[in-house]
Amino acid sequence: MSVFTPDDYRQRIQELDGLPSLPSVAAEILALRREDKLSINQMLPTIEKDPPLAMKILKMANSAFYARRYKVDNLKQAIVTIGLNDLTYLVLSFSIIKSFVIEGDETYWINWSDFWRHSVASAHVAQYLARNWRLPLHSNPYAMGLLHDVGKLVLFRLDQGRFMKTLSDIREQKLSSIEAERNHFGITHQEAGLWLSEKWMMPESIQQAMGFHHQPVACTAEGVRDLVALIQITDAVCNEYQPNLVDLALDGAMEDLQGWQILQPELENPDQTSMEEVWGMVVGELPQIDSVLALVKGE
Ligand SMILES: [Fe+2]
Ligand SMILES: [Fe+2]
Repeated sequence: MSVFTPDDYRQRIQELDGLPSLPSVAAEILALRREDKLSINQMLPTIEKDPPLAMKILKMANSAFYARRYKVDNLKQAIVTIGLNDLTYLVLSFSIIKSFVIEGDETYWINWSDFWRHSVASAHVAQYLARNWRLPLHSNPYAMGLLHDVGKLVLFRLDQGRFMKTLSDIREQKLSSIEAERNHFGITHQEAGLWLSEKWMMPESIQQAMGFHHQPVACTAEGVRDLVALIQITDAVCNEYQPNLVDLALDGAMEDLQGWQILQPELENPDQTSMEEVWGMVVGELPQIDSVLALVKGE
């Protein structure tokens, strides 16, 4: 087996070697966003070009997440319901997920449903906690939660054999994903996600969530550091209560997390200090997770 160095992996990611390119809808929307030209009139024709995406957006606007009293039955109304900013992030998330969804869900005996359930649960919990803790929502914690572990899909695409060994070390030797990935790849899903999101020119908050959710103190963007800290907490809470293939439950208390140490001084009522209490807060969100999961995966 050829041996790749971290630099080789970086180069392969930068060249998208074995990786999907950013879907055109997402590329167009990111370009509009960079040029500060995002408007409903600009967004509408772009999304209409992709009917399955338009359908997902309509379903999302009608989901319990947006809790409307009336039915949203056209795309323009859906955009208004969701809001231009949130919609940008949803379109990016949906199209990235679509580009990575693995057909049949059972490639190499991996149950990818568990991965996506973890991602959707993280999205919901992040959004819920951000609202509850009054953190800034402009950078979209939902999308940050949804996409934080995409680097794992990158590692899988780069080398499936190595990825399988990584997974078995996580399970059998009880290593953290970070340790196991470093042993087998020399890089972790954080770097893999960061490099891909840089290549795709994703919004900074998504880059930082992908790149630093296991070590938010290293987050290089001041403006989104609190939300990256939130994603670390969210990730730990979801791993504790929802088994998944990508990580083990945290070995320790929430108070020991860097994310908690960053966030706690910012909170007005930092009274939810245990995983159990945080989980107790979000448990009402769970019924939504499976319905959005089906939507995200295009079922
Ligand atoms: Fe992770
Ligand atoms: Fe995670």
